[in-house]
Amino acid sequence: MADTINNNDKAILTLPGHEPVALPIVRGTAGDPAIDITSDLRKNTGYVSLDYGYHNTASCQSAITYLDGEKGILLYRGYPVEELAEKSRFIDVAYLLINGHMPNKQERLEWSSLLNRHSLIHEDMRHFFSHFPDGAHPMAILSAMVVSLSAFYPEVSQNALGTEAINIAATRLLSKVRTIAAFSYKKSIGEPVVHPRHDLRYCANFLNMMFSSPVAPYEFKREVIRALNTVLIVHADHEQNCSTSAVRAVGSAHVNLYAAVAAGICALWGPLHGGANQKVVEMFEDILARGETARQAIERIKREKKLLFGFGHRIYKTYDPRAKIVKKSCMELLDKMHIDDPLLATMLEMEELATHDDYFLSRHLYPNVDFYSGVVYRAIGIPKEMFTVMFALGRLPGWIAHWMEALDDPRFKLQRPRQVYVGPSLRHLTDDECYYGDQMKV
Ligand code: SDX
Repeated sequence: MADTINNNDKAILTLPGHEPVALPIVRGTAGDPAIDITSDLRKNTGYVSLDYGYHNTASCQSAITYLDGEKGILLYRGYPVEELAEKSRFIDVAYLLINGHMPNKQERLEWSSLLNRHSLIHEDMRHFFSHFPDGAHPMAILSAMVVSLSAFYPEVSQNALGTEAINIAATRLLSKVRTIAAFSYKKSIGEPVVHPRHDLRYCANFLNMMFSSPVAPYEFKREVIRALNTVLIVHADHEQNCSTSAVRAVGSAHVNLYAAVAAGICALWGPLHGGANQKVVEMFEDILARGETARQAIERIKREKKLLFGFGHRIYKTYDPRAKIVKKSCMELLDKMHIDDPLLATMLEMEELATHDDYFLSRHLYPNVDFYSGVVYRAIGIPKEMFTVMFALGRLPGWIAHWMEALDDPRFKLQRPRQVYVGPSLRHLTDDECYYGDQMKV
């Protein structure tokens, strides 16, 4: 493919009543071609393109993450996600996505120091938690708390794009969102919050804030910390997914980073997107409650045309490479912790059945990142209502990196799509429809 398209190639578009129009072709690092209609299509033809769900539309050129949906390839700044999950830790991958290279020793020290310095939340923010109703969904709390960071730290706007300012804003978010997540959990179980500690690394600090208490110190397990790092790494970015596109769209109006990320949190909450990890566990809890076998459940899902949550993907038309990593991490963790999760056997059988069932194969439906992640979180002790918060924690580096890249991109403009209007033609108010006029109504 790359050999047949050079940078001077044009796409020739022939439209009724128009001279053929030559549109530039651009291509990505791996040779993936695109017809660039940015400046010429409507100006030269009066036509716009229509693409529900953006199946065929690239919103930008990006150097952060590369996906190949047919081959199941995922690279973060060129590094295979499998390699990063195996050999790196989440905060180094966060640095990579945001800064474009892996941190050297000095950069790692500075990054860790910033994460530690920004791990506390403003004392006034702590009172917010007590005013949310019991049972408030943690994603509602998280989005409200993150946008309120812009009230406490107003300086992070698009003109604070210097590296140091960005690293401060990025570590402030990465660190404070971790604290907010843990505090919202403590609030939900009526326990006192546990503050971050300067002597603990990122994931250990989170686990300590979540699960230690004044009467019971948290017992750190290497396999739990490792599994948490792995799951956060595979969630760290995924190019132009729904929530990242929301961050870019809101960020294109030049709002500050916190407001743009809060928009991403709200988009991620949806059950078709990041909310799927909670729906997967609820789906299998329901299957067990019904006393169904995996086969009975899959036949019901097909018969009722329901969604098999944790399956399917807009880009991956094969097994999501992240799902393989999470599944492996899940099996290792449960084995080391001697946990027998009652959902797992049915999930494994459901995967085996669905990946050999033409109903799913014909629709290119395979396990995605959300299918097994909930089992890892359950083994760690994280409640299902917090699963999407964990997804958001993992996705923060990607959202930050895309917000930065967009504002740095001279071609990136205020996002304002066109539409094809199909409403009523021009018409005027009848006398009956008027309020003001000759006969003023009472
Ligand atoms: C994430 O974009 C990203 O990168 C997202 C993400 C990231 O890291 O940011 O990877 C994270 O959001 C993963 C996806 C999590 N969502 C779920 O697990 C929810 C279940 N999946 C579906 O909602 C669905 O697969 C989507 C939304 C993920 C993708 O769907 P598309 O690409 O919009 O395709 P579609 O809805 O048009 O479905 C095509 C066909 C339809 O059937 P027909 O009308 O052709 O008969 O496939 C069917 C759909 O009904 N289908 C499913 C299905 N997903 C699609 N049928 C059963 N179970 C499913 N899960």
